[in-house]
This record gives sequence, structure tokens and C-alpha cells, in this order.
Amino acid sequence: MYACICFLALSSVIHAEPELVIYELGDNLKYPLYCRVNDISKSSWKRSDVPISAGGYVFDFNKYSLDDRSPPEYNLKLKKSLLKNDAGKYSCTEGREEIKSYILIAKESASIPKHSESSIYSMLGETVKLWCNATGYPEPTVTWYACQQTRYGEKLESIGISGNMLGIRNISRNCNTIYQCQAINSYRMKKPVAKNITLRVHFFPDVFVGIKLNDKEISNSGFIFGRKKDRLALSCSVYAVPPANVAWSRDNITIGTYHHVNGIIEKSSNADNFLYGLTKALEIKIGISVTMDFTLDADNTFASYHCDAKNEVGYTRKTVKIKHVQKR
Ligand SMILES: *[C@@H]1O[C@H](CO)[C@@H](O)[C@H](O)[C@H]1NC(C)=O
Ligand SMILES: *[C@@H]1O[C@H](CO)[C@@H](O)[C@H](O)[C@H]1NC(C)=O
Ligand SMILES: *[C@@H]1O[C@H](CO)[C@@H](O)[C@H](O)[C@H]1NC(C)=O
Ligand SMILES: *[C@@H]1O[C@H](CO)[C@@H](O)[C@H](O)[C@H]1NC(C)=O
Repeated sequence: MYACICFLALSSVIHAEPELVIYELGDNLKYPLYCRVNDISKSSWKRSDVPISAGGYVFDFNKYSLDDRSPPEYNLKLKKSLLKNDAGKYSCTEGREEIKSYILIAKESASIPKHSESSIYSMLGETVKLWCNATGYPEPTVTWYACQQTRYGEKLESIGISGNMLGIRNISRNCNTIYQCQAINSYRMKKPVAKNITLRVHFFPDVFVGIKLNDKEISNSGFIFGRKKDRLALSCSVYAVPPANVAWSRDNITIGTYHHVNGIIEKSSNADNFLYGLTKALEIKIGISVTMDFTLDADNTFASYHCDAKNEVGYTRKTVKIKHVQKR
């Protein structure tokens, strides 16, 4: 007796798997959705829980009809050519029991309706997930590319990862680039659709000071020897994400500051004390270079010159000390 109850209970829980019906937009369904019932007055069709029919009555008779309305046939016919929003689950029930269900799927070229924002920010060492949630039928293939520096310039190169998500662990600065996902399926597509996602990995400024003495580059060991009338060009190259504000100062007096927000150089108001020219800031890939061009012509020009770079992550200073050597 117990066993029998159990069996009954089980049988009403186990539903048959829904049957897939694939269609093309604008097509008519060749066959109705079949369902066999015992008592039509207790039966109904629903689409995702919205009733289509109750017994012999059809709610939207422009769209649906009951094909052969005599037991055991309780078949649903879709009268119009099919649209995208006809996709979904259709189920036939009798009493409380689901007798049969169908999933209608429209064939569709791949597209990427949902994806990560076009710019993603991350800190060094973090894990990020880039998404390209492609849709379409048949199921699209998604492959990932990264824009990489090659001998021939920048090029999109395959990362060898496929799937909706590209996960990157322990982010390094080298991950700063454009990633591209491409999605394609076999339905009316020759070329994939693509989305670009730029990853910006935040890190504190890296600062390099280049020195030219009388137009000759010299290696930077922190201090240099100069004579009166020597021409000096100190260039401060800063690599930082987000971009940094860059300032040159002599000892503790600011000469000029490059503001990354508006991209202009603001020279110190007491510039009269200085004999420097600050050239226009030069933008380099993820950085900026601010050059100070001047002649060593006053005693106070033999001093310490600091390049300070500051962004939201941190602050870096590089110093060049200029020592006076007397003319022999
Ligand atoms: C993409 O789908 C996954 C689940 O499959 C979800 O976690 C993620 O938030 C989705 N991404 C977007 C951008 O919609
Ligand atoms: C993360 O990467 C850095 C270098 O980029 C490495 O030194 C460190 O060991 C890595 N950490 C982990 C947990 O893999
Ligand atoms: C995506 O990035 C690639 C590589 O930088 C570029 O060639 C392409 O024009 C970008 N596409 C769009 C839509 O921005
Ligand atoms: C720096 O500034 C202080 C006062 O603001 C001043 O006394 C000092 O002489 C300045 N110069 C140096 C090299 O510290």
C-alpha cells in the first residue's frame, strides 16, 4: 500500500523533458503542438504560465486554435507566422498534471546584447571577469582576443579562450589593453560580431627622468655635473593608470604642473625666478612626458630637480641633482 502511494506521488512529479521545436522567423509551424488528454474540459494550454486555452475555449483566437478538438487530441496550432517573441515554453496540462511541454526556439544569428562595460577598471593583483553574453541559435561560439604589441604594430591576437567569460587572475600592468570577444554561429553569418572591452589596471606612477646635456643624452645616475652655460633638458616620463598629474620642481619650489584632467601645463606664478621653459606635454601610450628645457646660467640653477607624479593610487618622486663644476 505504501509502495503504491509512493509510486503515484512519484509519477506526478516526474515530467517528461520538454520537446524542442526550432523555427525560423516568419515561418509557420508545420505541425501543431500535440497533446493527448482524457478530458478536454479539464485541460489547458499555457505559454510560460499564461493561459492560452481553457477546455475548449481559446483566449486569443487570432493567434491560436485547437486543432482537433476531440479526445484524445488536444493539439495547439499557432495560426500566424512566427515571431521572435513566440519563443518560449508551451505546456499542456490536464487537471494539475503537465502532460506535455514544448520549448520553441527561434533560429537567430549570434549577437552580443549583454557585455561588460566598454571600460573596466581594476587594481594590480585583482581578478576580473570580462563578459560577452552572446545569444543566438544555434548556440554561438565566443572567442577572445587581446590587442598586443607586435613588431608590426598593434594587432588583435587570439588568447585561446572561448566562452562567454574571460577571467584574468592576479592582474598585472601588462593586462592594460583592449580585449575583444567575437561571437558567431552557423545561422546566416559569414563574419562574427565583436565587442571591445578596454581593461585599465590601476597602478602607481612609474617615473623615468631622461637627461640631455648640450643635446647629448646622458645616463641618469641621480646626479650630473654641469658648467655655466650648459643647456639642459630634463624630461620626465610618467606611466600611470589612471593618468597622473606631473610636476617639476627645483628644490621645494614648483616650476610647473601638468594637469591630466585638462591636459594643460600650469607654470608657477613666480616664473620670473626661473629661467626654464617647460615644453608642451607629450602624450605617450599610457603616459605623459613633460620636458624642462633650460640653461645653467645662475648659481641657483645648480640644484635638485624633482619630478613628482601622483595619481589616485600613489605618488612617485625622481630627483636629479646638478653639481657645479668650475671651468678650468
Ligand atoms: C552574463 O551572464 C552571467 C551568467 O551567465 C552573469 O553572471 C553576468 O552578470 C552576465 N553579464 C552581463 C554583462 O550581463
Ligand atoms: C601575482 O603576480 C606577481 C607578478 O606580477 C607575482 O609576483 C605574484 O607571485 C603573483 N601572485 C600570485 C598569487 O600568483
Ligand atoms: C576594437 O579594437 C580593435 C583593436 O584595437 C580596433 O581595431 C577596432 O577598431 C575596435 N573596434 C571598435 C568597434 O571600437
Ligand atoms: C624650502 O622651503 C622652506 C620654507 O618653506 C625654506 O625655508 C627653505 O629654504 C626652502 N628650500 C629648501 C632647499 O629646503
